[in-house]
Amino acid sequence: MDMTGVKLTELVEAAGCAAKLAPGYLSQVLSDLPRVDDPNLLVGFDASDDAYVYDLGDGRGLVGTTDFFPPMVDDPYLFGQVAAANALSDVWAMGGRPALALNLLCFPNCLGLEVAGQILAGGADKCREAGVIVAGGHSINDHEPKFGLAVTGFVELDRMLANGGAREGDVLVLTKALGTGILTTAHKAELLDEAGVKVATDSMITLNKYGAEALDGLDAHAATDVTGFSLMGHACEMAEASGVTLEIRAGDVPVMARAREMAQMGLIPAGAYRNRDFFGPRVEMSDDVPLDLSDVLFDPQTSGGLLVALPEDEAAGYVERLRGLGQPAATVGHVAARSECSVRVTM
Ligand code: CO
Ligand code: CO
Repeated sequence: MDMTGVKLTELVEAAGCAAKLAPGYLSQVLSDLPRVDDPNLLVGFDASDDAYVYDLGDGRGLVGTTDFFPPMVDDPYLFGQVAAANALSDVWAMGGRPALALNLLCFPNCLGLEVAGQILAGGADKCREAGVIVAGGHSINDHEPKFGLAVTGFVELDRMLANGGAREGDVLVLTKALGTGILTTAHKAELLDEAGVKVATDSMITLNKYGAEALDGLDAHAATDVTGFSLMGHACEMAEASGVTLEIRAGDVPVMARAREMAQMGLIPAGAYRNRDFFGPRVEMSDDVPLDLSDVLFDPQTSGGLLVALPEDEAAGYVERLRGLGQPAATVGHVAARSECSVRVTM
């Protein structure tokens, strides 16, 4: 429900994770920063991993991450839920459990306070579902609303899932369908109705907690969450960090209803083109993959699913557990020895 007559998405230029800085731009900025050399910092920003991990010396690591972005939906409560689910996700992607969160809110003075309250309530409800304590926050006046969290969690270091652990022979599982960028772009252009975009919002508010907890008792080797850099971008990062090539069967990748149709109509977020420019040269895409499907593979996801590399004999059981929870998980390929490309996509 919009309580002011102002549509949240009309106040922003780029929505959700599509508002991220272009990957090439970001890596250039980061490469100029001085390296921190502390042996307790097990994972820092140079590993292109999802969160930092700091060794607490007792077998546990402290995990920290932050994410915030402009709205991709008009309903402030729903936006709060999406932003919180997205920010918490990186802790689960490292094999950890989030524990505490701080709200980060940018908000225009001209919008009603009840709108800000609804955004925070959406975030608080997702944190409650996650078992996370909201312990404070910071807000700032900004012409464009933005919301997210700074999250702290813990990981058992022998259960840590960096993106560099994928091994030859592993099977790849994707826990959610792709298409949030395309469907929310189509909705913003008023070419997709509420029912059509609901498949994207339902997926975005689904916590990756369930995908992570379903790994309990399994021997997963690597994981990452699929967000702004698209399945192709995050698969490239996993492949390069692991020294392998990921082979993905495009026809097996779960895709949201109507996402390919909207892609055919050209309703593709700018971030998808940036992802294709930056990661495309590291991807060998078979000629028989239709263009609209490859657009989905480069589509920036907001609060996307986990991409997990795990032993072949565990993959089907993992997919079954998630399907039992109503998630459209699927095996989407496997890990091969390193070849010239980082990711090879066949139909
Ligand atoms: Co991530
Ligand atoms: Co993130």
